[in-house]
Amino acid sequence: MKPLLLISRSLPLPETSESWQALLKVAEPVIRSQRDTKPFSRHAQFKRARALIPLVSDVIDRSVLDLAPELKVVSNYGVGFNNIDLVECSKRGIAVCNTPDVLTNATAELTIGLIFAAARRFKEASEILRTQKFKAWDPKFLLGRELSSARLGIIGLGRIGLAVAQKAHALGMKVSACSNSTKPAPQFVELTSLEMLLKTSDFISVHCPLNSETQKLLGPKQFDQMKRGGYLINTSRGEIIDEKALLRALDKEMLRGAALDVFWNEPKLNPRLRAHPKVFVLPHIGSATAEARSGMAKLAVDAVAEILSGRRPKNQVN
Ligand code: DGY
Repeated sequence: MKPLLLISRSLPLPETSESWQALLKVAEPVIRSQRDTKPFSRHAQFKRARALIPLVSDVIDRSVLDLAPELKVVSNYGVGFNNIDLVECSKRGIAVCNTPDVLTNATAELTIGLIFAAARRFKEASEILRTQKFKAWDPKFLLGRELSSARLGIIGLGRIGLAVAQKAHALGMKVSACSNSTKPAPQFVELTSLEMLLKTSDFISVHCPLNSETQKLLGPKQFDQMKRGGYLINTSRGEIIDEKALLRALDKEMLRGAALDVFWNEPKLNPRLRAHPKVFVLPHIGSATAEARSGMAKLAVDAVAEILSGRRPKNQVN
């Protein structure tokens, strides 16, 4: 019998694709139904699984790992793997893989979209139309700010942060970054400390991974340090921002706006964020392009096939 691979949701990968066909040679895939809303770990086949493809919203912690004693590989459908207890997987000899690169451009493009959305007040503007309050064009109506010559501060200059930096530079923005990355930054990026970045940036964009050091990285103290009248953008993980501190900064008009693709307790959005006129929120769609999502499916499936064939894929993270 071939090892069982349990996939959290149907993936955008044709059954005729080389990747799927290669997978069928080494595994028996089972796809959880779209209608199954129970946690992934409660699936009837979970305890038989030798491989898993979870979504970034499926928690794979120690108690979940206990339910799957046969497990050899967790191939996350996402680049961020904060949903997986990496240390515990390593202890148990379980390989963990992710989906880097293929979603970099999609996420960077959405980030630029969110910068525009914040700067040009999309939320307030569309709300005015939705509530039929647009009465007349006016010279002082809904004034925003231009990106050209504004400074963008990037927190985390990894693959996505770097792609955002390049696009922002092409738009004429000045770019600063603070990062743990050891890769050299392009010349146009001014490397700086987090504190200096907060003090000097007109737009701040978050691109670091979520871990115990970055949870609530932006709290009350950091909001107090931010340049007055700036904007905050987040396409990384909601938990990096203390939402109470963000709301306070917006209410006190220390910040002019925020545009978020991620938030705490997804999919439940804090009602104050939902209602706030200065907060533009999207439902975690950074990688939601046909190109990125099919690239992610291919990477996730290929990694399972590699591991089950005794090889180490490039995208293994432990
Ligand atoms: C990721 O890959 O980490 C995104 O959050 C979902 O694509």
